[in-house]
Amino acid sequence: MSREPFLPKKEGYVVAVVGATGAVGQTMLDILAERKFPVSELIPVASSRSAGSVIEYRGKEYVVRDLETFDPAGVDIALFSAGGGTSRTHAPRFAQAGCYVVDNSSAWRMDEDICLVVPEVNAHALEMARENRIIANPNCSTIQMVVALKPLHDAMPIERVVVSTYQAVSGAGGKAMDELAKQTGQLMNGQAADVNVFPARIAFNVIPHIDVFMEDGYTKEEHKMIDETRKIMEADIAVTATTVRVPVFYGHSESVNITFSGPLNAARARELLAEAEGVCVVDDPASEDYPMASEAAGTDPVWVGRIRDDNSCANSLHLWVVADNVRKGAALNAVQIAEILISQS
Ligand code: A2P
Repeated sequence: MSREPFLPKKEGYVVAVVGATGAVGQTMLDILAERKFPVSELIPVASSRSAGSVIEYRGKEYVVRDLETFDPAGVDIALFSAGGGTSRTHAPRFAQAGCYVVDNSSAWRMDEDICLVVPEVNAHALEMARENRIIANPNCSTIQMVVALKPLHDAMPIERVVVSTYQAVSGAGGKAMDELAKQTGQLMNGQAADVNVFPARIAFNVIPHIDVFMEDGYTKEEHKMIDETRKIMEADIAVTATTVRVPVFYGHSESVNITFSGPLNAARARELLAEAEGVCVVDDPASEDYPMASEAAGTDPVWVGRIRDDNSCANSLHLWVVADNVRKGAALNAVQIAEILISQS
């Protein structure tokens, strides 16, 4: 199906990375370079704290600009990863100047007029962005789960999903990674751990609390997984989630239990997932082969293993789903969206 390109054909595009000094922003720069995205001008943008500092992109140095005073006129694509408040204030300003904003924060995700896109699942939803020019990048845990759910749902509609996550600290940004490293050092040296970023000590601990608590006892992170999955999959799936922070630097892991509306067994699921775009199946119990965060870190696919029938419930399966949360869960997904925006077919 041919459609109007989002952006006209050009040798290169003016790309702003807002939050370029952060954990996700840095990875956005790496992925733009790795995938040879046609950039004619790169503009790193951050807060006044780091404005004037220098970052490197493809062997050249670029001065970081202050978002407050930056004029977005002439920018083709802005990749935002600088927090929800920043995005609420500044994404409309960029969009009004004519640029497409791909926003990694949660600010716009559930807005009815804004599309929430995982290219392997619902690239067609991008059509909505022609009007308002803002595209939301989903929550990291949601992205990797829906990439695994979609090929199964297409074969047999899903009725219910029960997910428990094991989320890496990089999902909470650079300061969170520093906190895990620092606390580990402190505890190994017999000192008390300083707790600043997380609600409790993260080193040698597991915290069942990500983002704030809501009135119903769920956390906001859990609500994100529930609501965003339904929006991206465009399906009335019952989803429940428990989201947990673990002392891992990169790579979110998820235990996903799925109930289908009819039969779909583990063998068929394995075949479907093996052929699915963006998925790699690693599932060989005989040789103790399964996906792990330590191996998924730094890679692009969504890794799926431990695929097995749920013997306790009809038409149900278990999956273990792992991905690099900063890459597929954030920066890579945003760059894949940008690639569709410049595609001419
Ligand atoms: P800065 O380095 O100037 O604080 P992380 O998620 O790793 O903590 O990174 C957050 C990113 O978002 C950083 O690049 C940070 O820039 C940027 N950022 C945070 N708040 C703002 C703001 N108010 N305006 C612009 N950039 C911001």
